[in-house]
Amino acid sequence: MRSFNTVLVTGGAGFIGCNFIRYALGRESFKGRVVNLDALSYAGNLESLQDVEAGFGGKRYFFERADIRDLQAVCSVFDRYQPQAVVHFAAESHVDRSILGPRTFIETNIIGTFNLLEAARAAWKDQEGKLFHHVSTDEVYGSLGGHGRFTESSPYDPHSPYSASKASSDHLVMACGNTYGLPVTLSNCSNNYGPYQFPEKLIPLMVLNMLEGKPLPVYGDGRNIRDWLYVQDHAAAIWSILESGILLEKYNIGGENEWENIALVRELCRKVAVRTGKPAQYYEKLITYVQDRPGHDRRYALDCSKIKKELGWTQAVKLPEGLDLTVDWYLRNPTWCNRVKSGDYREWMQANYGSRS
Ligand code: NAD
Ligand code: DAU
Repeated sequence: MRSFNTVLVTGGAGFIGCNFIRYALGRESFKGRVVNLDALSYAGNLESLQDVEAGFGGKRYFFERADIRDLQAVCSVFDRYQPQAVVHFAAESHVDRSILGPRTFIETNIIGTFNLLEAARAAWKDQEGKLFHHVSTDEVYGSLGGHGRFTESSPYDPHSPYSASKASSDHLVMACGNTYGLPVTLSNCSNNYGPYQFPEKLIPLMVLNMLEGKPLPVYGDGRNIRDWLYVQDHAAAIWSILESGILLEKYNIGGENEWENIALVRELCRKVAVRTGKPAQYYEKLITYVQDRPGHDRRYALDCSKIKKELGWTQAVKLPEGLDLTVDWYLRNPTWCNRVKSGDYREWMQANYGSRS
């Protein structure tokens, strides 16, 4: 089993990154330190790590504001902290934004990942005990019909600028492993949900719009299917790969929780109604079918038997419980919600989505 003194986490101020850092530092078996490298884009918020900073700041947790598009900045963080492991989350992550403005996706997700690989390659002369783990998405596989699931050997067929940029970064990671012997692993994960997710994504957007009595925009016929995984389960899966994943292998991490969007939105209406005392129909009446996302993938589903069998990981949180935890969290954290929405977000939503925002 591998262990590390210093783990460099990129994108640790984002949704999955902050949950991963909290998970790592909370593990009894991990005695090392975490360095969070993040550019603090609109999606990165240090408020998401206030408890971590208070508990571990300057001792086992360090924050470095740096942009992965800047090779020198990345190399300087490697020089100063000498990490043995990298967990690479930093990315532009929202499909709709990639349709409206793809360039930053190419720059951050492709060039940024390449810079990190270059920095690791330069820093790790001795590759013993090192690991570069790249966090990717099920969207690289494209869209499924009614049956079947993607396996690790399914061909790549990305459809959006976001998924194409992630697919490209996946290939670069594997190429550096194969060509230069860089110690790499890769995971492709399904839709995450849970605390600290930026409210442009389906679940937090719906919950917050309900609380404000705003329309709940459902794309197309609402029957697209996503496979939902509680974010803490994702963190645990990545940890199992850090400890025991085989170099040059990729692992699917799925929720095995497929829901049609419209069914999920109705379920959220019921969950919010229980908490506010309003009838669920009050929220359901806010559901508004809107123009479909261009190139909207119909269904994602992952076969994650490999990580279950080889690394002993499994999902711990079922969807009803995870949704309860998530809805409660958003209801209890209005300050966080208002803060993250206060940047360029409101203006951006208004400019691009008008009244739906
Ligand atoms: P997020 O958008 O919430 O966070 C991204 C983080 O990266 C932010 O903190 C942001 O400031 C940082 N960042 C952006 N550009 C940067 C740059 N140029 N330099 C340094 N930092 C930068 O994203 P997320 O939902 O937490 O996703 C994290 C990773 O997981 C991404 O790589 C994404 O593709 C992948 N992923 C996400 C999901 C999901 O459901 N959210 C599922 C599978 C895979
Ligand atoms: O599958 C993994 C991917 O999941 C990650 O790689 C991405 O980073 C992450 O953003 C997520 O992508 P999706 O496009 O699936 O997530 P999003 O929350 O944007 O949308 C989920 C589904 O809900 C999708 O079918 C589109 C639909 N949708 C979304 C929004 C924001 C709506 O119907 N209305 C909305 O307002």
